[in-house]
Amino acid sequence: MNLEPSASTPSLIESPAELLERFESHAPGLVQIKPKVVFMKIEASDPAPVSMKINVPSSGIGSVTLLEASALVSLVKLVKPRKIFEFGTFLGYSTSLLVENSADDCAVYSLDLGDSHVSDKPLAAFAEADLRSDGDINDEYLRGAQGARGPHYTTALSAADRSRLSLLQQDSRKFDPADHGLEGSVDLVFVDGGHDTEIVTIDTANARKMVGDSGVIVFHDFNSNIHSDVTTFVNGLAKHEAIVCIQHTMLAILLVGQAGRDFLKIGA
Ligand SMILES: C[S@@+](CC[C@H](N)C(=O)[O-])C[C@H]1O[C@@H](n2cnc3c(N)ncnc32)[C@H](O)[C@@H]1O
Repeated sequence: MNLEPSASTPSLIESPAELLERFESHAPGLVQIKPKVVFMKIEASDPAPVSMKINVPSSGIGSVTLLEASALVSLVKLVKPRKIFEFGTFLGYSTSLLVENSADDCAVYSLDLGDSHVSDKPLAAFAEADLRSDGDINDEYLRGAQGARGPHYTTALSAADRSRLSLLQQDSRKFDPADHGLEGSVDLVFVDGGHDTEIVTIDTANARKMVGDSGVIVFHDFNSNIHSDVTTFVNGLAKHEAIVCIQHTMLAILLVGQAGRDFLKIGA
């Protein structure tokens, strides 16, 4: 897995002040920050230690790494969302992070194909080398594993946390935020569903509808060496908008409106 920036990625930003200055003095575009910039923002947001609940992720295929989990949870702490939407529940690892690290009154939605999706191929028939080198095979495996195993990490959530979580089972290409009253009402969206251009384009359009004029949209698999459509798509967005990617992760953050400006100012 390649977690290094592509050749076009600009130089590394080392502090919240430098990040804010970059967006105040230049046109929008793609910037890369060191992970410590996110953690410096956390320190600046609260002088007391900030508690986070992060179980060490499985080293298997398909979920976020420990560093990505830490950064994602930090974004939750910084944005303080009242509503979160996730494309791509998979086994519920990132879903549980989003629920357990958001406020007690934050509603969390996570969408995946669900058990209606039946894989044509048994999971045991996938070779690990193929899963790590071919994006289409990897996606086929993820859909099959999700259908077969379901969001089992979410079963460990407390009853109170579980009551804030809505698990939606639907092909995201057919998803309409208006059906769930979500237009313009979501503060943080995590885009980590299907990885081809069609799905990422549709999921991002719906993410935009959900955040409206203010919010934060986080993409996973930016600069993945197998899901190149995501990288191409996010690089395309960065021609016109502010995108922040985090070094040594596959996270890229689209900052929209006031929530984006507020995020940039923390600790700067
Ligand atoms: C990379 S996994 C998500 C990982 C999860 N966010 C985590 O970090 O633990 C991608 C998920 O997207 C789902 N997916 C793929 N295409 C989809 C579609 N068209 N609609 C909904 N979900 C889809 C797959 O079933 C799979 O579970």
